[in-house]
Amino acid sequence: MQSDRDTAHPPKNRYADAPKRADWTIDQDWRSYGEAEHDRWNRLYARQIALLPGRACDEYLTALEALRLSRSGVPDFAELSRRLAALTGWSVVPVSGLVPDDVFFDHLAERRFPAGAFIRPEEELDYIEEPDVFHDVFGHVPLLANPVYARFLQAYGEGGRRALARGQLAELARLYWHTVEFGLIATPTGLRIFGAGILSSPAETMFSIEDSSPNRIAFDLERVMRTRYIIDDFQQSYFVIDSFQTLLDACYQDFGPIYDRLRAQPTLAPHELAPGDRIVTRGDFHYFRAKTAAA
Ligand SMILES: [Fe+2]
Repeated sequence: MQSDRDTAHPPKNRYADAPKRADWTIDQDWRSYGEAEHDRWNRLYARQIALLPGRACDEYLTALEALRLSRSGVPDFAELSRRLAALTGWSVVPVSGLVPDDVFFDHLAERRFPAGAFIRPEEELDYIEEPDVFHDVFGHVPLLANPVYARFLQAYGEGGRRALARGQLAELARLYWHTVEFGLIATPTGLRIFGAGILSSPAETMFSIEDSSPNRIAFDLERVMRTRYIIDDFQQSYFVIDSFQTLLDACYQDFGPIYDRLRAQPTLAPHELAPGDRIVTRGDFHYFRAKTAAA
């Protein structure tokens, strides 16, 4: 029997103990979402969608429409997967939380995106450490309807096993962080967002595009793979791609010789500029300085 205390403080992730298959997927059991959970999705969706015109890239906004993501509750992964599969062959598979790296790579290589099935609790509406359904589905899934991006993420998954075998996962993880999670794209009408970590965060949506604090640096594969990151604050440097095709072209190659070169080079701090950088905007770091001063 559930105690009053449990009712007042429901578990953060109610799928945490769900039975896992060998590939770490679980049953979403869409009917089990309560009204409060659907309402939380709807409010997160409404808040974020209002900020995205003129900030998110066109490819993302077009895909959001093509997949018919909306303010009608937490999406049913099976239905969403049918729409996505018709466009690019990808599907969305439910998981209870982060999955081991090798499992994650295998899913991506097979065009399956593992998405958290739980939705963040009310008291963590603005920031959660663990990826939930809003971050994963609203942030990551739409661009999988774009054929070029879809191929890029599959190639990333295919490269993952090789990076693991070489013991150079950190380099590959930095590529994911600075593009899939926090990437910007240059367009004729200005910088736009494509990274899921930004697209699912109202504060970072504004910060990444409009604030004068961070550096914005043109994407260069090896440079990105050398750049460390911090996970619990806005990025000190954002990387800007020219197009999804150039991102795919850069990543659709054997990273072996690149990993060999990277072994001999030091990593770069998140704020650091390096010789050869094509700087889009040089950060004044006022946000980060104010935060340090206040600490
Ligand atoms: Fe993510």
